[in-house]
Amino acid sequence: MRRILVAGNWKMHGSLAMVDELISALVSGSSTDESADLAVFPPFPYLDRVRNLLQDTGIAWGGQTLNPVAQGAYTGEVSASMLLDLGCSMVLVGHSERRALFGESDEDVAVRFDAAHKSGLQPVLCVGETLEEREAGITEQVVGRQIDAVIGRYGIQAFAQAIVAYEPVWAIGTGKTASPDQAQAVHAFIRDKLSGADGIIGGQIRILYGGSVNGSNAADLFAQDDIDGGLVGGASLKAGEFLAIRDAA
Ligand code: G3H
Repeated sequence: MRRILVAGNWKMHGSLAMVDELISALVSGSSTDESADLAVFPPFPYLDRVRNLLQDTGIAWGGQTLNPVAQGAYTGEVSASMLLDLGCSMVLVGHSERRALFGESDEDVAVRFDAAHKSGLQPVLCVGETLEEREAGITEQVVGRQIDAVIGRYGIQAFAQAIVAYEPVWAIGTGKTASPDQAQAVHAFIRDKLSGADGIIGGQIRILYGGSVNGSNAADLFAQDDIDGGLVGGASLKAGEFLAIRDAA
């Protein structure tokens, strides 16, 4: 049985005051027997504060990206071991903003995925098509290619501890969410693909949906067979809305 995971990607938002307020509200709004897991992905400078506030609460935290190199002269970058030092258990790789704004190729993403996996961090591999690609009818081709970039280099076993997040680029931050049927179709494609390589991994892996998830649309999305939670951007910055998404599970 796959547990629902509701993960909040704060992107480049926040302040120390906001971290204190938001995390306190998440902690007081959660108990140890929730039916869904929660995780947050704050900007790097706030990870230590988040760790102090979330330790022993059952809510996980992680980095929004990582550099695949262990250490060295890479100004501005953050390694897997640094994230582990700060108590992270997960890291996002290949978010569409990393791909589009910071030029990360499928290969760059795969290398980051592998670095996370080998370090003991759980990689959350983000995949998804643009509006042009959807309209051209090549959604499965694009998502399949993004997944194959990892399987081709590191094998299906690399997915044994991983999470996949399907985020159609046209639904991110636009208020235009994929319909439950549209999302389910791509999630089923992803699960079938992974199951084709390894039935156990395909059956167990959590596949999150991301793109304008909120407290009102989450229940219909999470009710789909192959949707195991959400990767939430904007709505994760408001504790009440984020907890409402968790409660929709
Ligand atoms: O990582 C999260 C996604 O980019 C979704 O963002 O919920 O603001 O559309 P959004």
